[in-house]
Amino acid sequence: MSLMSRKSLVTMLAAIAVAVLLALGFIWSGIYNVGADDHHTKPVFALMQSLRERSIHVRSNSLTPPNLEDPQLILKGAGQYAAMCTGCHLAPGMTDSEIRPGLYPQPPDLSKLRFDPKDEFWVIKHGIKMSAMPAWGGSHDDATIWSMVAFLQKLPGMTPEQYRDIVARAPADEDMEGGHHHEGSDGHETAAGAMPSMPGMDGAGRAEAENAPHTHAKPPATTTISMEGMTANAVPDAEHAAKALHTALQKGDRQAVLALLAPEVVISEGGESQSLDQYAAGHLGEDIAFLKTAQIKPISVGSMPMGDTAMVGSRSEIRTSRNGKPMAILSNEMLTLKKTPKGWLITRIEWASDKLPE
Ligand code: HEC
Repeated sequence: MSLMSRKSLVTMLAAIAVAVLLALGFIWSGIYNVGADDHHTKPVFALMQSLRERSIHVRSNSLTPPNLEDPQLILKGAGQYAAMCTGCHLAPGMTDSEIRPGLYPQPPDLSKLRFDPKDEFWVIKHGIKMSAMPAWGGSHDDATIWSMVAFLQKLPGMTPEQYRDIVARAPADEDMEGGHHHEGSDGHETAAGAMPSMPGMDGAGRAEAENAPHTHAKPPATTTISMEGMTANAVPDAEHAAKALHTALQKGDRQAVLALLAPEVVISEGGESQSLDQYAAGHLGEDIAFLKTAQIKPISVGSMPMGDTAMVGSRSEIRTSRNGKPMAILSNEMLTLKKTPKGWLITRIEWASDKLPE
């Protein structure tokens, strides 16, 4: 303070006062158009995007997701999504809705785009200010929100038929009016936050759900989720086919890999889709080379029937080295299979991976 002369202090305060008055004048004038049909300029939009992304990411970073491959969690999320979100975020086979064109910012088409699970959880729970995205945390517990996140990881790439099928199997949205669910008639309400456990889903690879929050379940007999045998409905044969694929890839057995793939298979790796021929000519060799020296530790696997097809989701940790440097990735795999006279054939492969800290 002593370094600053009295005069320059007065000048500075005056400048600040003028700036405040100008800002107030700008607000008062009504020059700024708040209409949703008047879009931001590019620089303003970019600035807001960064603000939004950082704000979400900083807050979501410390979250611990439950096992997002749990088919029952995915199934529950499907029902929630269909009941509450498609008007703004669409679904496979839907190209537009009545509300979407008028929304600004535009809600992302979640039937095509997949986002970071923790970010998704945070956004669904808390909503986004000054946009149409509501905070669903007021009316939904964390377990329910994670179920939507689990479903959103699977939604991109689903066909309209698969989408219809999974929604038809999903438990009703318990928070919806109209209650075609068990209205606590014989004590069937699940406690808030408790996801039912999956008696059909035992085995070492599935134990991970135990560590997750909100999965400490009520006994399955007391769940509201009626899946008509869904729990017994894991599809072991489809899971075997998935396992056979992993074994064949790691052994470098091209013939065995190709024998498991349906002619119409679509292989999508990091968002890039390939046909059987393209894969056989290119990435298959790379994948084999990559996996040759890798150590693969399965983390979880789950499956569920979808119409006359089945989906098998699995996660594994892959450790290998690239250019002499050790690397570790978390691999997320989602397979769609169909039953044929030759056994289960894979019609869709989706691979996504996250780098793990070494
Ligand atoms: C009334 C419209 C509306 C509804 C209903 C709605 N959303 Fe949104 N949602 C939006 C808008 C708009 C955005 C984008 C906000 C932005 O970019 O600032 C958004 C963003 C999101 C994002 C963020 C994606 C990203 O960029 O990280 C997720 C995830 C999401 N919504 C999930 C859901 C789910 C799940 C539901 C149903 C429970 C839902 N939304 C219901 C309008 C809606």
